[in-house]
Amino acid sequence: MTVDKFQLPPYPHDKLRRITLSAKEQGRQVVDLSIGTPCDPPSDRVTKALLTPNVINGYPPSIGTSDLRNAARQMLERRFSVRVEESELAMCVGTKEFVASLPHFLHLKSPGKDTVLYPAVSYPTYAMGAHTFGLRAVPVPPGVNGSMDFSAIDKEDIDRALLLWVNTPANPTGEIEDLVAAAKFAADYGITLCSDECYGEFTSPLERKSVLSCGKDNILALHSLSKRSNAAGLRVGFYAGDGELVHFLQEIRKHLGLMIPGPIQAAGVEAFAEDEAVDRQWGIYKDRLSYLIDMLDGIGVKATMPKGGFYLWVKSPESYQKDPRLIKNGGKTENSGWLFTEDLAKHGAMLVSPGDFYGQLGADHIRIAAVQPLEKLELIKSELEKSKLSFL
Ligand SMILES: Cc1ncc(COP(=O)(O)O)c(C=O)c1O
Repeated sequence: MTVDKFQLPPYPHDKLRRITLSAKEQGRQVVDLSIGTPCDPPSDRVTKALLTPNVINGYPPSIGTSDLRNAARQMLERRFSVRVEESELAMCVGTKEFVASLPHFLHLKSPGKDTVLYPAVSYPTYAMGAHTFGLRAVPVPPGVNGSMDFSAIDKEDIDRALLLWVNTPANPTGEIEDLVAAAKFAADYGITLCSDECYGEFTSPLERKSVLSCGKDNILALHSLSKRSNAAGLRVGFYAGDGELVHFLQEIRKHLGLMIPGPIQAAGVEAFAEDEAVDRQWGIYKDRLSYLIDMLDGIGVKATMPKGGFYLWVKSPESYQKDPRLIKNGGKTENSGWLFTEDLAKHGAMLVSPGDFYGQLGADHIRIAAVQPLEKLELIKSELEKSKLSFL
């Protein structure tokens, strides 16, 4: 029997290096709007809590201190109107590691199942978490309303599914997922549902929803301090929901020594207690998104305000379909998302992400993260105005 050797794909953002290098060689500055890393500071009370005494000497609990878990539970109740018991919530070291490792842990529990279902245009780690552990990742295309189209999944994939990921508001599209439909589909087929809600507070209060309002049976919600509190460097996240599943995961994670450092757990307590700073930050993102929409309009590119999150998901202008660079490569190694990305870096001094980072279905788009202050966005605008790049 031949066994396929695992081929590690390049890390998506590393593929942008050639664009930044070429700008550097030409002495041009590019403003980085490619990664969703917050640039605004966390609040003082969070920073000060990092100096909490007596939390360095001992090992911190892998599930999180009781104070931290309670602060997270209270945040869920205040902001999402859902209640969980202390035993139904545990911490993770930022949510990326949880997204990446969950399929493996669920497979240990249910070795007969080997498939992860995830949104076809989405955060790349949903698929990587399956691939790196030798599991299958099956993309689910969006339906007409932007939510996942469960009717498009093959029967065999449903039968083999361990886990269904949803992400709301979604990175990169800014869509709000139909959580009731996802919960029904997952329950009908006995699939664990995990809803990644790390942008959950960056939307209108009416759209602010947690999957836990649909129940907890075989369901988890995943939250992070990275975006809500401008604290990606702290690496604090939590998962909450089905008590039995939370218990299983927390026990494995304890064996593996996955734990948030003590001073950071103390800072996390302060961060989960804050709401005003989060709402203020959402206002800042909305202003930047509006600025970027107007700026793109000025060069003939249409972009619309996302329903949530801080990304613009923008279709590449039609003219790229006739671009000789695309035609030359038969559309195989280049796509319009990459060409648009290259042109924006070359003429507009901004680095964005080509849409294929988020799945082949996104190849005709780019993603722009509103993570730089207005002064930097003004710089991009003035470079664009000076350049000849226009799709009008
Ligand atoms: C959809 C989504 N989920 C999870 C993460 C991981 O965030 P963190 O590990 O900082 O909690 C990100 C980061 O960009 C994301 O966009």
